Amino acid sequence: MKEKLILRPPEATDGMALFDLVARCSPLDTNSSYCNLLQVSHFSDTAVVANRASQLVGSVTGYRLPNSTSPTWFVWQVAVDDSARGLGLAKQMLLDVLARPHMADIEYIETTITRDNEASWALFRSLARQLQASLSESVMFEQQAHFQGRHATEYLVRIGPLTL
Ligand SMILES: CC(C)(COP(=O)(O)OP(=O)(O)OC[C@H]1O[C@@H](n2cnc3c(N)ncnc32)[C@H](O)[C@@H]1OP(=O)(O)O)[C@@H](O)C(=O)NCCC(=O)NCCS
Repeated sequence: MKEKLILRPPEATDGMALFDLVARCSPLDTNSSYCNLLQVSHFSDTAVVANRASQLVGSVTGYRLPNSTSPTWFVWQVAVDDSARGLGLAKQMLLDVLARPHMADIEYIETTITRDNEASWALFRSLARQLQASLSESVMFEQQAHFQGRHATEYLVRIGPLTL
């Protein structure tokens, strides 16, 4: 029998399971465990985790942009365990956070993606289509100027304005 996926806002005790999930979801960069703990505590309102049985198999972390004139949800990382991919879980998690009452004022979704991450581009293009919103892209953190050659350029993806 297929186990059910349960989506919920994360709690501080999810921090280490989140660390482990991100670590097995290449090409995501791992964060410090302390950073993961902040994501699931201070930023729980703008994050979601998905559990199957007792295992954490999906997560979206993010926060409201602090200095934006338009209310914007910045999506930090989306991770889906290999065993749960291709089921629509990543998109379902993004929509779950957006559907929360306290997110009703959000006008834009932002994230950054490296050029070669086809799954991530497909996910956010699919989200934009579903929300019937425009998607624009620009360079946010450049390989040389910001990463000193140690990381590929991160492109800022902006979806919105949201009207649905
Ligand atoms: C990217 C990732 C989160 C997608 O998770 P998922 O649950 O399998 O994605 P979904 O099933 O919700 O798919 C959403 C859309 O993206 C498309 N997609 C997902 N993975 C894809 C892939 N590898 N190649 C092409 N398209 C892909 C789906 O076909 C779907 O498109 P549709 O709605 O037009 O049919 C997952 O592959 C992952 O964790 N990858 C490693 C971490 C990572 O790169 N995260 C990037 C986000 S920061």
